[in-house]
Amino acid sequence: MLSHLFNPIQIGNMTVKNRLMMSAMSINFGVDERCHVTDQLIEYFVERARGEVGMMLVGGGSVHPGGQELPDLPQMYDDSCIPSLKKMVERVKRYDTRFGVQLMHGGRQSYLPIKVAPSAIPAPAVVKGEVRALEVKEIKELVACFGDSARRCREAGFDFIEIHGAHGYLINQFMAPNSNIRIDEYGGSFGNRTRFLFEIIEAIQEQAGTEFPLGIRINGNDYIENGWELKDTVRLAPLLEKAGVAYLHISGGVYGSTELTIPSMYTPQGCFVHLAEAVEKVVDIPVITVGRIKDPEHANQILKDGKADMVSMGRSFLADPQYPRKAREGKFSQIRPCVGCCLGCIHAVLAKEPGSCVVNPDVGREYKIKEEAASQTPLKVVVVGAGPAGMAAARMFALKGHEPLICERESDSGGLLALAAKAPGRGELGDILHFFKEEMERLGVETRYDTPLSRDLLNEIKPDKVILATGSLPDMPVIKGLFQTAMGLITNVDLLKGREKAGDRVIVLGGGMTGLITADFLADQGKQVVVLNRKKSFAEEMSSNDRYYLRERLKKGKVDLYKNVAIQAFTDDGAVFKSNGQTLTLTKFDTVVISEKQQSIRDAKKLVTNTNAQFYFIGDAKSPRHLMYCISEAEEIARSV
Ligand SMILES: Cc1cc2nc3c(=O)[nH]c(=O)nc-3n(C[C@H](O)[C@H](O)[C@H](O)COP(=O)(O)O)c2cc1C
Ligand code: SF4
Repeated sequence: MLSHLFNPIQIGNMTVKNRLMMSAMSINFGVDERCHVTDQLIEYFVERARGEVGMMLVGGGSVHPGGQELPDLPQMYDDSCIPSLKKMVERVKRYDTRFGVQLMHGGRQSYLPIKVAPSAIPAPAVVKGEVRALEVKEIKELVACFGDSARRCREAGFDFIEIHGAHGYLINQFMAPNSNIRIDEYGGSFGNRTRFLFEIIEAIQEQAGTEFPLGIRINGNDYIENGWELKDTVRLAPLLEKAGVAYLHISGGVYGSTELTIPSMYTPQGCFVHLAEAVEKVVDIPVITVGRIKDPEHANQILKDGKADMVSMGRSFLADPQYPRKAREGKFSQIRPCVGCCLGCIHAVLAKEPGSCVVNPDVGREYKIKEEAASQTPLKVVVVGAGPAGMAAARMFALKGHEPLICERESDSGGLLALAAKAPGRGELGDILHFFKEEMERLGVETRYDTPLSRDLLNEIKPDKVILATGSLPDMPVIKGLFQTAMGLITNVDLLKGREKAGDRVIVLGGGMTGLITADFLADQGKQVVVLNRKKSFAEEMSSNDRYYLRERLKKGKVDLYKNVAIQAFTDDGAVFKSNGQTLTLTKFDTVVISEKQQSIRDAKKLVTNTNAQFYFIGDAKSPRHLMYCISEAEEIARSV
C-alpha cells in the first residue's frame, strides 16, 4: 500500500530498508556526568529500532565541550565516549536499523554562559549570555574536532554520520550573513562563509574514510532577515554532492526565525517539503525532507511525487516509536499521533529538562518499563469520564488484561480537549482523542454515553476499582459588578460547546491558554475581542513555540491583550481596570466570556465511598492541569495496579 515509503534506498554504501528516518533530537537525558551514554538513552533508541525505522540519529553529538547545546547530551569529544557508544550500537544493531550520530557545535546557540561564534553577535532569541568571535586557530581546531568525533563514531560501530549545518548552530552561523561579519577567509563571500563546512567534510573523510556515509543537514531557508536562503541552498547542494556527501537533509529556521524549526500545530503539515523539492532538482544524491509530516499516506505521497527521496520525522517517533511498523502493517489508527503542542519535547529541553512527550509519557522511561503478561486475575474497573485521562486509563487497564468500562455523562467522549480542538488551528488535538476512541474500539472497552455514575451502575458492575476522571468546569470569579452587568455572561465551555453565543464585542476574562484560544475563536468569527488577564504573563502553560503562532494569530485578529490587570468593576457595557499602572475603561461591549480558572468535578466521589471499590482521582478531577499530566497519571495508575 505504502509502496514508496517501504521501498529500500541506497545511501552511499549503505542500504536502508525503508524511507523513514528518525531525525536527530537533542533529547537531554540518558548521559552520565561525563556525558557518556547510559541505559536510559540506549533503551530509548532500542525501542525505536524495534519499531522498524529505516534510519535514525543520535541527536546533539557534541564535538567540543564549548559547543554543547544542552547539558545532558552525549559527547563525542574524547575517546572515553567510545565504550558506552559501542554498547548502544550493539544493542540497537540487533534490529535492522541504520544508526548514526549527528555531530554538532551549538556556537552562539549553546546553553553555556560564554559562547563562541563566527562573530560576536548574540542569537536573536531563546539563549542569553556572552558571545565571543572565534580566532582562526580555534576554527581549525574545531574542524579537527569534527573529524576526530566522526572517527570515534565509526569506531563505536555507527553506520553513518550527519553534520548539523542547520537551525542556526555554529556551521549555519558561519554560512549566514546575519551571524557572520568576518573579514578573513571565513567571512564575506559565499565561498568563504561555507569554507568551515567544507573543511569539516574533508576532516571527517580523512578521519573516518570517504566510504563512511556522511550526510549533511542544512536549512533550505533560515526564515530570518539577512539569513541563509533557498537560493544559497540550491547553490551549495551540488557542491556538497561533488565533495562526496551521501545525502542532504533539508530543514528550516533558526532561533528567532519567523517560521520555527519545530513548528506547532498551527503550521501546515509538510511545511518544509518545498525546500527539499527545490534541492531534489539540482542533485542526484538522496534528499531528505522533514517538518510536520505525520501521516504515513502523506509521507508516501511526497515520495511518490518525487519531492524528496526520504522522509524524516522527529516528534512522531516520540509520540509513537512503533510508527513505521504500524504504518507498514496498515494499522494507521493505532499510531499514537503527535499533536504538535511542542510542550513535552522542545519546550522541556530548552528549559534544560529531560525531553518527553505529552501524549507518550514513556519517552525516557523505556529502560524502566517491562512488558508484562496480561493479568491472570482481571479486575473490574469502572472509569468515570471519557476525556483523555479516562480513555488513557481504560486503555492501559485493558492492555493489562483487566476489564474496564467507561461511563460518560455526555453523549460523546473527549471532555474539554474536544472543545479545545474546536479553536482555530487546534484541530490536531482531536487526533489524540481519535486515537484513544479507536483504541477503545480495538480493545473492546465498552463506553456508555449519557450515563453518569450511579448506584445502579455500581451495583451492576461491582467494580474492584473506580477511576474518577470526571474533569473540571470553569470557576466563576467574584468581581464587583460581574453578576449585575447587562452584558451577556457566559463561560468558554458553553461558548465552545455552542450552548451559548457571544455578541460582536466581547471581553474574555483570562489570559491563560484557554482564554487566548477562546479569544482567537471569537476573533476568527470577526468579533472585536479584548482579553483581560489578571496574571503577569500570557498562556504560561503553553510551549513557547505553540504560543508564538497563537500570538501571531491574535495580532492578525486585532485582539487587544491586557495583562497584570486589576479589575475595579464591571459596568453594564464594559469594565474599569488597571493594567501596568494605567486606569482604562472599556465601553460598548456586549458579552463577557469567563475563561480563567477551572475547578475539579468531584461529585461522583460520594457514590463510591460507601462501596468496596478502591477509587482514584486522575486528570483534571484530581487537579486541573495540562494534558501531559492527565495521560501520564492515567497510565501510571493503571500500571501500578
Ligand atoms: C526535543 C527536540 C530536539 C531536537 N533536537 C534537534 C537536534 O539536535 N538536531 C536537529 O537537527 N534537529 C533537532 N530537532 C528538530 C527535529 O529533528 C525536526 O527537524 C523537527 O522536530 C521537525 O520535525 P517533526 O515535525 O517531524 O518533529 C529537535 C526536535 C525536538 C522536538
Ligand atoms: S510533546 Fe507534543 S509536540 Fe512534542 S512530540 Fe509529544 S505530542 Fe508532539
